[in-house]
Amino acid sequence: MLELPKLKNLKKMKSIAVLTSGGDAPGMNAAIRAVVRYGIAHGCDVYGVTKGYSGLLEGEIHPMQASSVANIIQRGGTILKTDRCEAFFQKSVRREAAHILRRKGIEGLVVIGGDGSFAGAAKLESETRFPTIGVPGTIDNDIYGTDDTIGFDTAVNTAIDSIDRIRDTASSHDRIFLVEVMGRSSGFIALETGIGGGAETILLPEHSHSISSICETIERGAKRGKSSSIIVVAEGEKPGKSQEIEAELAKRGYPAKVCILGHTQRGGTPTAHDRMLASAMGATAVSYLLAGQSGGMVAVQKGKILRVPYSQIAKKVKKALTPSMLELGKILSS
Ligand code: ADP
Ligand code: F6P
Repeated sequence: MLELPKLKNLKKMKSIAVLTSGGDAPGMNAAIRAVVRYGIAHGCDVYGVTKGYSGLLEGEIHPMQASSVANIIQRGGTILKTDRCEAFFQKSVRREAAHILRRKGIEGLVVIGGDGSFAGAAKLESETRFPTIGVPGTIDNDIYGTDDTIGFDTAVNTAIDSIDRIRDTASSHDRIFLVEVMGRSSGFIALETGIGGGAETILLPEHSHSISSICETIERGAKRGKSSSIIVVAEGEKPGKSQEIEAELAKRGYPAKVCILGHTQRGGTPTAHDRMLASAMGATAVSYLLAGQSGGMVAVQKGKILRVPYSQIAKKVKKALTPSMLELGKILSS
């Protein structure tokens, strides 16, 4: 069970706002619900900003009640909608965003999103002194400073469920399948999906893979009597990696089917794990704002919820895959 920080001297903020930004992730609704209900319980008015930073700039800021977030904990996506906002990269635009919030009497902002969204929040706060706090919501689990992010567990479960289905048809037809999963340049989804789905090969963006070594693995399996194979492929910088590999395998006499799981991994009912994480992080984000400890992201490290300053996330250190899990993935898939 997660352990929440015990924060003292919570001052009363009159009103706070919450938005979701960047790619959506299952569990974001549970986080919004926690922010709204925990905020109201602590005497705040809570506003919902529609469509991330774009909606903020357009003044799409609406009061929320406890009932506004009823019946959403089980829903994927984000009821506040989300966006990627090019204009927010400009300093003058961020200054305008702070004016908009202040004109509404809002004193603090909870940003649910990934490290890009936190980079925007960090600049907003350092340039305008408007208090912000981040809640990590991304299926990629690629944010430095937190062991887990909202949506990752659901995405991995979705991908494993798909692999179970693909394995049925792969073994019926004695086929090789390349199953491509999301995660951009991070291999967290691929590694956990590969281990949990019992993949024969896991191709991660952190490592280079030669086509000949993939062929060797297929051959080794065939010698042991394996007539079908699941190869999990991390998308890397852009989707389509599995198609490139398929073309190379075909040239070497190994025909394979490609299944790109794509955005199916971003939707659906959040798992119990993600609902718990989102509830704990959303509530703790409000506590940090009220304790005057803004300027960072709510994180989980070794089961404890804590705050990591934006400056640490922004150091651009890539969050590394756990070496022992990498080793396990290699041994179990061979
Ligand atoms: P994520 O938050 O999931 O990492 P993005 O990287 O797409 O997603 O960022 C979401 C939004 O956050 C961007 O569209 C932009 O509005 C804002 N943002 C990202 N990086 C910066 C930055 N360096 N400066 C200002 N705003 C940023
Ligand atoms: O960051 C989350 C994520 O789903 C990545 O895994 C993926 O590469 C990207 O977003 C896809 O973005 P879009 O929804 O813009 O296609």
